[in-house]
Amino acid sequence: MTYKKVFIKTFGCQMNEYDSERIWQVLQLHGYQRVSSPREAGVIVINTCAVREKAESKIYSEIGRIRKLKETRPDLRICIVGCLAQLLGTRLIQRYPHIDFVLGTKQLFALPELLEQHSQQSPYALLDMTTVPISYPALPCPSDGHVSAFVTIMQGCNNYCSYCIVPYVRGHEWSRPPHEIIQEVEGLIKQGVREVTLLGQNVNAYGKTLRPPLRFSELLAQLDVLPGVERIRFTTSHPRDLTDDLISCFTTLQTVCEHIHLPLQSGSNTVLARMNRGYTREAYEEKVYLLRQAVPHISITSDIIVGFPGEQEQDFEETRACIEKLQFDDLFIFHYSQRTGTVAATYSDTIPYHEKIRRLKILNELQQSISLSKNRELIGKTLPVLFESQAKKGEDMIAGRTRTGKVVNCKGTGDIIGTTRNVLIEQATVHSLTGLIL
Ligand code: 5AD
Ligand code: SF4
Repeated sequence: MTYKKVFIKTFGCQMNEYDSERIWQVLQLHGYQRVSSPREAGVIVINTCAVREKAESKIYSEIGRIRKLKETRPDLRICIVGCLAQLLGTRLIQRYPHIDFVLGTKQLFALPELLEQHSQQSPYALLDMTTVPISYPALPCPSDGHVSAFVTIMQGCNNYCSYCIVPYVRGHEWSRPPHEIIQEVEGLIKQGVREVTLLGQNVNAYGKTLRPPLRFSELLAQLDVLPGVERIRFTTSHPRDLTDDLISCFTTLQTVCEHIHLPLQSGSNTVLARMNRGYTREAYEEKVYLLRQAVPHISITSDIIVGFPGEQEQDFEETRACIEKLQFDDLFIFHYSQRTGTVAATYSDTIPYHEKIRRLKILNELQQSISLSKNRELIGKTLPVLFESQAKKGEDMIAGRTRTGKVVNCKGTGDIIGTTRNVLIEQATVHSLTGLIL
């Protein structure tokens, strides 16, 4: 019965990865099997991303490729779900009539019923964003034997950074109740998970929508004491919501790993104001200072956008100088991508593509040299590494991460996966370390 075989492809962030596993879970409860290629599938689910144009065009290519399969097998069901589905809605069906279902970000779990009710009918879209936030199934997300798992703790975002489409496609900020999160983490631990990464567009604003409200640091304290939890990570944090009580968690809670992803976006106060980020470069630098004062070896990673409308050479230079000064462990640098519907899309002073790319390359080169020298500083140190999987390269190699989130490859056997070992760091590259298990 191919029609109960599902192929799921995910684009975008970790929250989408989490949602895809949840979609898989509800389909599994309805008797579906998962297959690893679209050719074997009776149902194809594409979980989409709308954050940048690049993701959007990759998704269009994917939908285009699937058309050929549908031509030979008209009973194949094609379901486009998530952020881009929410954004474009029925326009997707007009453009690609071979699509069967378009489901928005709050409708993901309606898929099994829809597949049953609308088996051979015309295309169908479910896009209502005004309904209550999606509630995840009570069962923990299947971890499939992984050592590390994601747990989404909040949905949506109220920040409306002027370049960002997320608040329009994911809706208002909404926090999952703590008992649900605790139950889910406990379930994951039972499945053998050792590390959880708490996910949200703005995790450190967690708890504001709860009655009574709960601080993110309080949630961390509740998770820290659960038996079997070895490491807790979280992403993404907003600099404005990085409070002292959260910074203290890095020193007082044993399981909270010394790594924070703290998007800066720009080092120019003019650009930051036009981005509606709610902080200045000086305020950001102060947060970095406080973090390093609390935990000198904390790893700090960040996001930067180059070529935001109106970004002058002077603004770019300020970003470059800020990166040089702050010495991030790693950076994700994006060139600005105009998103229809956002405030920044109405700004006329756009930067030409080749100029955006020039700026991107300069910052990438700068960061590569910083990352490399930071990683080289670790050579000769002994660090605890939680091993997670076979390494990508080398059959006898396994891979894990330090508490600061750096990838470490070591010679080792599969039985070490899932355990934490002391590793002597011997070599460093821009993106990873190599070491000897002691
Ligand atoms: N163009 C480029 N980058 C963007 N990001 C979000 N929206 C855009 C956009 N329109 C980047 C930000 C954010 C990361 C997840 O994606 O840097 O932190
Ligand atoms: Fe987008 Fe800003 Fe919200 Fe992040 S904080 S999801 S960049 S609006």
